[in-house]
Amino acid sequence: MPAPALDSPTDATVADERRLQELFDATIAAEHRIEPRDWMPEGYRRTLIRQIAQHAHSEIIGMQPEGDWLLAAPSLRRKAILLAKVQDEAGHGMYLYSAAETLGADRADLTDKLIEGRQKYSSIFNYPTLTFADVGVIGWLVDGAAICNQVPLCRSSYGPYARAMIRVCKEESFHQRQGYELLMTMMRGSDEQRAMVQDAVDRWWWPSLMMFGPPDTDSPNSAQSTAWGIKRHSNDELRQRFVDMTVPQAEFLGVTLPDPDLALDAATGRHRFGPLDWDELKRVISGQGPRNAERIARRRAARDDNAWVTEAATAYAAKRTGHV
Ligand SMILES: [Fe+2]
Ligand SMILES: [Fe+2]
Repeated sequence: MPAPALDSPTDATVADERRLQELFDATIAAEHRIEPRDWMPEGYRRTLIRQIAQHAHSEIIGMQPEGDWLLAAPSLRRKAILLAKVQDEAGHGMYLYSAAETLGADRADLTDKLIEGRQKYSSIFNYPTLTFADVGVIGWLVDGAAICNQVPLCRSSYGPYARAMIRVCKEESFHQRQGYELLMTMMRGSDEQRAMVQDAVDRWWWPSLMMFGPPDTDSPNSAQSTAWGIKRHSNDELRQRFVDMTVPQAEFLGVTLPDPDLALDAATGRHRFGPLDWDELKRVISGQGPRNAERIARRRAARDDNAWVTEAATAYAAKRTGHV
């Protein structure tokens, strides 16, 4: 079929755009990857930048609650494990900022948006780590929830994001195991240690379930993200998967999950669980959580106090490449 006659440059642009959109749609439908130089709709680019930036910010802010225990870890072995884990999270943040840069975002600008409250990060990192058992519970539950969320992202339609997730998920798996191993060790210890583990589980269980985001009925952007192949499962599906995965682990560990409604539904083989406090999630996301102010104040201080390092490194790189 001959191409339709084009009357003006505007028509040409519209036709070009339509062809590019068709190519993009076909790429998504075929489950192929969109790469940085490919044409993409502006909404897709904006959605990905927002999601990847939020993810990167969560990795970086997520270093703080556990970082608080680096100097107080009970043994050299625990300190070495925790240090490696916290450094991994920094690495995850760096991969993700790099992925956002392939979409045209600027890393310093994203950090500014985080500090000014214009971009969010995971609500979970606004809770305090009161005892060393919290380190174990974060590994088990928070990294466990992160794995449920992130494994499907290895098949995300945007190439750099999907590829970054493969390595990130391998490391998250180590994080979850080190947390569980720490908790197993504490559960074999004294009554006081077992009580510390139970107390930490009581405080972290519900916030961990909130990590999957609002219920599907209140998740306005999900449908578009699913159509674009960015999101693969709904928030409620992933939350259910996490509960089903975690209940047998809790039983093996010997702790009680703080939900009187938690029960196995014999008909479906899945666990029913009690209602979540969505008002709490809204409060924490909007900045009213127990540690929001402290997390952002520290991030701001790190940016400002270390600005001279960035300046020196940038000047050195410019000198070496001759772009003085
Ligand atoms: Fe991570
Ligand atoms: Fe992690």
